[in-house]
Amino acid sequence: MLYVVLLGVPGAGKGTQAKWLSAALALPHVSSGDLFREQMQNGTELGIEAQRYIDRGELVPDQVTIGMVRDRLERSDARAGAILDGFPRTIPQADAFEVIAREMGASVGPALHLRVPIERLVDRMAGRRVCQKSGHVYHLVYNPPKKPEICDVDGSDLFQREDDLPETVRKRVQVYESLTAPLVEFYRARGVLQVVDGDQPMAAVTAEILAILGQEAGR
Ligand code: AP5
Ligand code: MG
Repeated sequence: MLYVVLLGVPGAGKGTQAKWLSAALALPHVSSGDLFREQMQNGTELGIEAQRYIDRGELVPDQVTIGMVRDRLERSDARAGAILDGFPRTIPQADAFEVIAREMGASVGPALHLRVPIERLVDRMAGRRVCQKSGHVYHLVYNPPKKPEICDVDGSDLFQREDDLPETVRKRVQVYESLTAPLVEFYRARGVLQVVDGDQPMAAVTAEILAILGQEAGR
């Protein structure tokens, strides 16, 4: 059973790579951000609570997030594992995730740190478009959809995320540096950290990740 964890600043390419890896490894893509956005779209109590934090670029409280991801990982399609994108994002979440993984009979790792220079992020976020239906990610310049504003995969409309405003992006990067960056050392200490150069064309990043996963499988 394989849990692959994707780490990286907002805009590093976690969602983009997770979609490819999910298809290549036949494991579900579990994105805490997508799960929150789904709840927000459906106007649930959880969605209304999460939106207050997301719109400000802050993190949703750990207990709410952990409960939501646990429920997702207990679904039958995640029996062989999952690609985790955006979770865990704090040390308490990482601790809770180890407990969840143990209960599921899995171990955590590899944790892939997608490294991208901060100066790339504003450009990546400004051009990002996301599909309404299942969160496929596009970029107006680096990965445009075949038809403007329509998802290639499921034909739904593309939208711009409310939290991609430049000032909210700056806040999200600050939150990442203080609360999420410590997870790099957390996973290094456990011997499962792998660093990936996220500042290359998308297909090259995917190839680097698949090479790492191939090596891990062969160990
Ligand atoms: P979330 O949705 O997870 O956002 P994030 O971590 O800020 O990351 P992003 O989705 O912005 O970036 P990404 O790395 O997925 O990049 P992408 O592939 O889209 O979380 C949103 C909010 O929800 C949080 O702020 C928080 O409030 C809440 N939340 C979520 N999880 C939580 C948790 N665990 N605990 C508490 N709160 C939580 O790529 C970005 C753009 O760049 C795209 O346009 C893409 O096409 C382009 N691109 C990607 N790769 C490349 C490349 N190699 N070259 C050129 N362009 C590229
Ligand atoms: Mg994402």
